[in-house]
Amino acid sequence: MQRIKIKNIQNKKKKKPITCLTAYSKTIAEILDKYCDIILVGDSVGMVLYGMKTTREIKIEQMIAHGKAVKQSSKNSLVVFDMPYKTYFNKIVAYKNAKKIIKETKCDAVKLEGGVKVANIIKHLTKKKIPVMGHIGLLPQTSSKYKLKGKKKIERERIIKDALAVTNAGAFAVVIECVVEDLAKEITNIISIPTIGIGASKYCDGQILVTDDIIGLSNVRPRFVKKYSDLRKIIENSVKKYCADVRERKFPGAGNVYKF
Ligand code: KIV
Repeated sequence: MQRIKIKNIQNKKKKKPITCLTAYSKTIAEILDKYCDIILVGDSVGMVLYGMKTTREIKIEQMIAHGKAVKQSSKNSLVVFDMPYKTYFNKIVAYKNAKKIIKETKCDAVKLEGGVKVANIIKHLTKKKIPVMGHIGLLPQTSSKYKLKGKKKIERERIIKDALAVTNAGAFAVVIECVVEDLAKEITNIISIPTIGIGASKYCDGQILVTDDIIGLSNVRPRFVKKYSDLRKIIENSVKKYCADVRERKFPGAGNVYKF
């Protein structure tokens, strides 16, 4: 199979839901690659793997290491790299960093948070042939609280303007995070690029979640997450049994030793 192209993803709009999840490592990337249209090397890695309090603390070099591992371990999905906080505060800095990210990780696109405020940056990157995914609604890199967006008319209108701005700037798709259902529906209907929802309803053209949340590895459980397995419990049981075996000298057994 060949790696999915951006135009194939865009062709799915209003036809077939687009599947996306996050990956930060080889093993998870290999699994996701069998099923997902898009793998996101999310800046959520800072909180999920490193125990940071916000996504603002992760550094570009740390994320590049994860981006390399994910890209090398996938051959089908489009791999998108989430540009870390403060790495795209103007178009010159954004281009320098995006070029470095693509060169070192070989990822297929970058994602950046913001609407009207970052439209000139998205325009600059796409003009320079760097594919960009937008991210509007709740913006974890700059929001102080995790809170539903689009309840008030003024906020709703601002988010619609953001959606139009990233579309007109040349983004190939846009993540919409944590907005009221009918706003996600309206945006999906009025913009030409695919909308990828996270806590933004079934009306989006696709869905994204943090993999560690759906497999039950992380401890967080926002309302919009569906937990498909409880890996924490499975790992804990294995560790508990292993430690008991070692203490009782049941491990290593006859089958776990080398003999001449
Ligand atoms: O960093 C991240 O995980 C994200 C989400 C959209 C899943 O940006």
